Amino acid sequence: MRMKDMVVLITGGSTGIGKATAVRFAAEGAKVAITGREKAVLQATAEEIAAQGGEVIWIDGDVQLKSDVNRMVDTVLGNWGTIDVLVNNAGICSPASFLEIEESEWDRHMAINLKGTFLVGQAVARCMVQQGKSGSIINMSSVNGLAAEKDQAHYNATKGGINLLTMSMALELAPLGIRVNALCPGFIETRLTKPLIDNPAAFAPYLETIPMGRAGVPEEIADAALFMATSDSRYMTGHCLVVDGGQLIKLS
Ligand SMILES: NC(=O)c1ccc[n+]([C@@H]2O[C@H](COP(=O)([O-])OP(=O)(O)OC[C@H]3O[C@@H](n4cnc5c(N)ncnc54)[C@H](O)[C@@H]3O)[C@@H](O)[C@H]2O)c1
Repeated sequence: MRMKDMVVLITGGSTGIGKATAVRFAAEGAKVAITGREKAVLQATAEEIAAQGGEVIWIDGDVQLKSDVNRMVDTVLGNWGTIDVLVNNAGICSPASFLEIEESEWDRHMAINLKGTFLVGQAVARCMVQQGKSGSIINMSSVNGLAAEKDQAHYNATKGGINLLTMSMALELAPLGIRVNALCPGFIETRLTKPLIDNPAAFAPYLETIPMGRAGVPEEIADAALFMATSDSRYMTGHCLVVDGGQLIKLS
């Protein structure tokens, strides 16, 4: 077991990439706290992990709200006394052409994806520093933080922001023993990408942009997260790791 007794907080941990990461980390011996906004889904995922022998708690909370974020962190500390790893994963993506993005949608993406990553990252980093211990923070970015995709200007901007936030956090937290890295997944099969998957006329040409010719699955991002969470990546910080079936290496 590569994460025996390590305490992990995973935001957006009840579905998709967050859930796969929670399942994987629990199987590696970690104590896993999953958070999100949907109580029934959180409870079901926690029950699934517990049924597989994992140690897990769930906490409902909105990453945009500082009071919720503090409650999440306090709940983990109340249960297990510490936090070793944060997977800052909660996020949304609601496509719209640049000319049609509503101000409210721009604000919503910024508040959940970018501000949420900041709030949770700061709260957990403060706790790690107070306890004088090392830790690993993994921010869930995207290939959309490294190259622009049409109809995603607001989402692209949040993920580009997460990459620079990751480097900035890494710079200031490295002397304190905390590593901060970002994961940049390509197209992964989750409910976020289901609308495109369910539209064969649009999905077939999209797949041609991926040299490996297929979408990724959440477990493939969980594997990369495991690398970043453990001492296997102990000399790595401020890095944005692309896991995309080769999508970014093509000109078009
Ligand atoms: N699926 C992909 O192709 C892909 C690619 C690159 C990056 N990502 C990123 O991966 C992360 C997870 O996405 P996913 O694909 O697993 O989709 P998902 O919808 O299954 O997961 C998103 C999670 O975030 C939670 N969440 C949303 N808003 C929240 C809020 N305000 N407070 C707390 N939790 C909130 C949701 O409840 C959900 O559990 C996101 O940050 C997404 O941008 C996904």
